Amino acid sequence: MELIDGKKISDTIKQEIAQEVESMVANGAKRPHLAAILVGHDGGSETYVAHKVRACEQCGFKSTLIRFEDTVTEAELLERISELNADDDVDGFIVQLPLPRHISEQKVIEAIDYRKDVDGFHPINVGRMSIGLPCFKSATPAGIIELLRRYNIPTKGANCVVLGRSNIVGKPVATLMMQKAYPGDATVTVCHSGTKNITEICRQADIIIAAIGKPGFVTADMVKDGAVVVDVGTTRVPSTLTKSGFKLRGDVDFEAVSQKCSYITPVPGGVGPMTIVSLMQNTLLAAKKELY
Ligand code: GUN
Repeated sequence: MELIDGKKISDTIKQEIAQEVESMVANGAKRPHLAAILVGHDGGSETYVAHKVRACEQCGFKSTLIRFEDTVTEAELLERISELNADDDVDGFIVQLPLPRHISEQKVIEAIDYRKDVDGFHPINVGRMSIGLPCFKSATPAGIIELLRRYNIPTKGANCVVLGRSNIVGKPVATLMMQKAYPGDATVTVCHSGTKNITEICRQADIIIAAIGKPGFVTADMVKDGAVVVDVGTTRVPSTLTKSGFKLRGDVDFEAVSQKCSYITPVPGGVGPMTIVSLMQNTLLAAKKELY
């Protein structure tokens, strides 16, 4: 079994981005600028946004963190989004999800100018991705594809089982894995809470992409010998072993499954760092204005 080292690959890509940024700046361009809106104080969201800000520093980007209390109204948030849409200094921005219940995530996503939507959540970017046009691809699926590419994992004709149908991961990664390209060209099955016989379906899989948010859901009996297992789960569970009092657990029973598979992504250090680096790649793309 080989561990897919997302941390190492993401460090390499950040260095590549930083080099490109320095040569852009040397040629008179401004530094790429990512803004992030964070509403409230959810522990997971605070951590993710802090990692995104840190990654901006590592890539030589400017970053701006905009905070609102969770009492912010939808109208106030939408107003701030239109200011960012109009701000020529900001190349791209994200609104960290989830949002408080009184705010419509869909309205917020659709309010973002698709040309600055570096999360790739706007329907224009989702639609363009699904028909194979250049676009901002959503970060986690793009990061998974990049890992498969950098490890030269064969995907053409492979049976790929995606667990989960979220708009952020399950649906877009299924779309990318079925596209006629490498990595892709796989036969994709999407399983979800309504699926019967998940165990039997998973046992047929050459590649399993688990994104359901249930810690340890994928057990060894669901995995065929030599399969590739990508674990997107990041559930925070209480732990006495860490300073924060939490640790991250994936959707895969790592101990048992790693004995059977050919490749596996660890949690943490697998898909997570790649998600952030995909956001950096999208921000660089936005700054270069080559896409839109
Ligand atoms: N919440 C969980 N994942 C993401 C992400 O990729 N982007 C944003 N904005 N919020 C998230």
